[in-house]
Amino acid sequence: MLRHILASDQFSRKDIERFCRRAAQYKALLKNKTSRLKLQKTFPGRLMQSLFFEPSTRTDLSFRAAAHHLGMTVHQVANAKEFSSAVKGERPEHTGRVISGYYSDVIVVRHHEEGGPAKIAERSLAPVINAGDGGGEHPTQMLLDMFTIQERFKKIDGIRVVLAGDLKYGRTTRSLAIALSKFNNVELIFVAPKVLEMKKDIIERLKETSVRITKFEKMEEVFQCPFDVWYHTRVQKERLKNEKLTKEDQKTFTITTEHLKRFPKKAILMHPLPIAGEITEEVDHDPRAIYFTQSDNGLPMRMAILEWVLRGVQ
Ligand code: CP
Repeated sequence: MLRHILASDQFSRKDIERFCRRAAQYKALLKNKTSRLKLQKTFPGRLMQSLFFEPSTRTDLSFRAAAHHLGMTVHQVANAKEFSSAVKGERPEHTGRVISGYYSDVIVVRHHEEGGPAKIAERSLAPVINAGDGGGEHPTQMLLDMFTIQERFKKIDGIRVVLAGDLKYGRTTRSLAIALSKFNNVELIFVAPKVLEMKKDIIERLKETSVRITKFEKMEEVFQCPFDVWYHTRVQKERLKNEKLTKEDQKTFTITTEHLKRFPKKAILMHPLPIAGEITEEVDHDPRAIYFTQSDNGLPMRMAILEWVLRGVQ
């Protein structure tokens, strides 16, 4: 059976822990030049096809770097929305079937439509990885986020995580909330302007788990709660429909060094990046702002992901 990666919920707690352990091993191996060169003998001759219908820096380049460090060959269609035959009206199911027919071992897809990678997977002969689908999910970002939390706190059980910003269209927070809910005694604190609150589908799914949820509309209100991780996100302006965001909303959802002063002592600040003004530049230099470590963790985690997917390919 093909090992597609399409949504967070397909992974159990044990799966996530296994991915974190493997990413930690890859992270250690990458630091040493000799072992880095040895790693290139892992999957020689294997072909990764990369198909991005939306812009990306981290996901695209870290997947391609991961494939490189594992000795794979990479073919890509950059800006697939404009330069693939989708523009002529090709159905995504056909695109998947066609690309996989070139003895491709894995297809990495970022899509502007929710469910786009799943459609490409429908008739694909190779595993498909969802590298972000519209306002839907970002399961590989979820794995690197979980790895970053695990690496910092040495555990995920009992963690208290603030998910802040655009929770309506932010696919990273949707995937992360689902993954965190698989652990014990987890508390999620949602803070978003009313028009960008977490959608019902995720809330309903979370209600089936033991996770505790608190909701706020103003960042100020969060500081009455203890927390370990503040996961901030940008407003996905490209996905907004009729939502009206006031200037006040934008201002009050910006993290500054003043906010960091009010963080609990050991709390960390994460962000999937890119930052588009919702965290001020000075914050970058605070050791609690770990979003560059988080983004670096994308490489070893995506090596672990490619390994998992390819081990399932005969
Ligand atoms: N975090 C993330 O998905 O970044 P990119 O859009 O640059 O891939």
